Amino acid sequence: MVYYTFIMANTDTNLMQEIVALAKRRGFIYQSSEIYGGLASVYDYGPQGVELLRNIRESWWNYFIHQKQNVVGIESQIFMHPDVWKASGHVDGFHDPLVDCKKCRNRFRADHLVEGAIKGIDGDDYDNKGLQDLIMEKKIPCPHCGNFDWTDVRNFNLMFATELGAVSDGDAKVYLRPETAQGMFVQFKNVMDTNRLKIPFGIGQIGKVFRNEITKGKFIFRTLEFEQMELQYFIKEDGWEETFEMWRGEIEKWYTDVLGIDKSKFIWKPHNPDKLAHYAKKAEDYEYQYSWGHDEVSGLHYRTDFDLSTHQKHSGKSLEVLDQETNTSFVPHVIESTFGLNRVLLMLLTDAYTVESNRTVLKLSVKIAPYKAAIFPLLANKPELVDKARGVFDNLSETFNVAWDARGNIGKRYLAQDEIGTPYCITIDFDSLNDDTVTVRDRDTTNQERVNISKLAEKLQVLLS
Ligand code: GAP
Repeated sequence: MVYYTFIMANTDTNLMQEIVALAKRRGFIYQSSEIYGGLASVYDYGPQGVELLRNIRESWWNYFIHQKQNVVGIESQIFMHPDVWKASGHVDGFHDPLVDCKKCRNRFRADHLVEGAIKGIDGDDYDNKGLQDLIMEKKIPCPHCGNFDWTDVRNFNLMFATELGAVSDGDAKVYLRPETAQGMFVQFKNVMDTNRLKIPFGIGQIGKVFRNEITKGKFIFRTLEFEQMELQYFIKEDGWEETFEMWRGEIEKWYTDVLGIDKSKFIWKPHNPDKLAHYAKKAEDYEYQYSWGHDEVSGLHYRTDFDLSTHQKHSGKSLEVLDQETNTSFVPHVIESTFGLNRVLLMLLTDAYTVESNRTVLKLSVKIAPYKAAIFPLLANKPELVDKARGVFDNLSETFNVAWDARGNIGKRYLAQDEIGTPYCITIDFDSLNDDTVTVRDRDTTNQERVNISKLAEKLQVLLS
């Protein structure tokens, strides 16, 4: 069994390889179980990566939950009643087209195989039969062994299943959720009834999801385990088009105004109406220009009343609400905004990655950067400098996430902080002992200024706002 396929399977650009190297070198992302040879499409986040993930989650939560007057958050669990997935359509309909090489037994997503072999083609435009015909017509060889000996293209369900309890029997089968959305649909009534909410209102959540992806590669872009940040906005059917456009604007605003990514790096890609997900009437992907080209980072879906209606039918519990104006009951419709946390992180690394003549810098926005400042005692073997620097660290760390580095020369420390995107480096030197000032160095300009220690926290607050 091959557990680890090299991450660059689908991308050969230098930029991506450099980002992967930096992510490992600077403690953002490691291959899972690396000392055992790795596990394909599973990654662990190191000290810098985990700070970045936390900052993205917090930014999303602030923008989409706290700053919206009628959106609330929940945290539903990974395990749900198995009937949820029958009702949602995932048991029957959540699959990708799979094809096996009969010679080397490697498996491929047929749409990705075709896209890799024929320039300009979009695998989404073809059903299984269409993909099969293309593979045969163009005699597409196996990318792994070069042979041309394929099974038929067939559906492969992406949900991971496991069993509850000690006894193995069919009734105990449960799934690891493949999206967070269903938790919000099945708790819709509880949330509405216990929070004095009325339509329109939204429920958001952030959480782990699992998909048994066939295609490996593209680093953390497509993994088996990842996190979604999703918002379900419950509305009356009338006027869904305006609400769809309102959320389009909110998605764009978060990426551009809050995360600071240039709008020109994105495109909206509408789904082919013949290939919409089983629940959607209209769907568009928000695609960022990754190193291999535009690819999905977010989605915007009009899910109609499919979700609440199907759960109402399968559970036998009413999920209708009363329209106070007309005194009639109705099942709310849903506009869904969805974000892949790990894809956002890869986007931020790609966007921030800057090579200058003498250094590599991650020009992350100050709000998202893992550390807001790094504290350096000029010399590690001078206790008076270390003590003074420790005092600065203790004071600033009450308010900001600050790094500490006392190793090697100052130049190397700057280079290390530049590569993890720390906006400010603060050096405590011999002058500091006399006049209580420190050097504050700006990551992007490399300019330095002296600041009084008593004014540091205030100064940082202004610089970071
Ligand atoms: N509830 C709707 C839904 O799950 P989706 O387009 O299947 O829609 C939503 O997934 C987001 O999850 C995508 O826009 C993408 O950012 C992220 N995503 C999907 N599959 C992923 C994977 N295998 N690895 C990492 N992120 C993924």
